[in-house]
Amino acid sequence: MIKTRICELIGIEYPIFQGGMAWVATGELAAAVSEAGGLGIIGSGQAPADWLKHEIQKIKKITSKPFGVNVMLMSPYVEDVMKVIVEERVSVITTGAGSPGKYIPMLKEVGTKIIPVVASVALAKRLEKAGVDALIAEGMESGGHVGEISTFPLVPQVVDAVSIPVIAAGGIVDGRGMLAALALGAEGVQMGTRFMCATECTISPKIKELILKAKDRDTVVTGRSTGHPVRCLTNRFTREFEKMEKEGVPPEELEKLGAGKLRIAMVEGDIENGSVMSGQVAGAVQKIESAHDIVQDVIQGAEREMERLSQRFMK
Ligand SMILES: Cc1cc2nc3c(=O)[nH]c(=O)nc-3n(C[C@H](O)[C@H](O)[C@H](O)COP(=O)(O)O)c2cc1C
Repeated sequence: MIKTRICELIGIEYPIFQGGMAWVATGELAAAVSEAGGLGIIGSGQAPADWLKHEIQKIKKITSKPFGVNVMLMSPYVEDVMKVIVEERVSVITTGAGSPGKYIPMLKEVGTKIIPVVASVALAKRLEKAGVDALIAEGMESGGHVGEISTFPLVPQVVDAVSIPVIAAGGIVDGRGMLAALALGAEGVQMGTRFMCATECTISPKIKELILKAKDRDTVVTGRSTGHPVRCLTNRFTREFEKMEKEGVPPEELEKLGAGKLRIAMVEGDIENGSVMSGQVAGAVQKIESAHDIVQDVIQGAEREMERLSQRFMK
């Protein structure tokens, strides 16, 4: 059985996180992943605190296991969102877009573990000093907002720079990927794209179909010129965005073009005009299946691979 410090820290059976994806990771998905023994995480994005409270209630009706909330530190509702997290005694928060520093004391008081997402060694070191419990090192293979470094070079450099546990994210889709992440020194994995195709994920079925059809080269990173690069599946929206970037359209205008596009993709199923955020592993996602089956496939696959490697190469 693969057990790491992350299992102990949070009280989960398997060190597998489902990424807290805005407009994708609702209470239904997070509850199913937590019930399956991983860590389900609600993606609170820019949603108001009432929405989050409602999603938390949903989870609590389905499972008594630990779950998390992803907090976008730039959200206009961040203060109220943090209050709900404290009131509801949420086990874990993951954070994106900056440092959760000023919220650490109030979260620690109620025992909430703080696990920020980082894309560089410098930020990882700074956040460890600030007192966070663990880190998610996310490579630019991932879906959504990305940094500049890939998972393979990023994870071992972060692992060597800090002593708290590190979870690898970006480009992990099965047991082989999980085992590779553990070999790089990670103590857990976070997957986003594969969980978008979980039965319990409430996004438009059109998006799931698109991921199932995707090939290895079907994603693109747009928005580097705005300072907020995002990886999505290529479609009319990304082609238009790329064209405008090449023409030198100012960042503010590009940001306006992108506003609200994730919602119209995920909720309304507009696969041409929406931003279909997805990782490079979209090409490897083969079917729609329950969160339980995904978690089992990844964990059993990792254990099987470990055995296979030792038989094949250890003489
Ligand atoms: C549609 C989508 C939305 C996402 N939204 C968020 C988000 O709101 N906050 C966050 O920290 N990460 C977000 N992510 C990143 C995931 O949580 C996760 O780290 C990433 O998907 C892992 O890489 P993978 O896609 O290769 O599995 C998003 C990813 C996707 C695909």
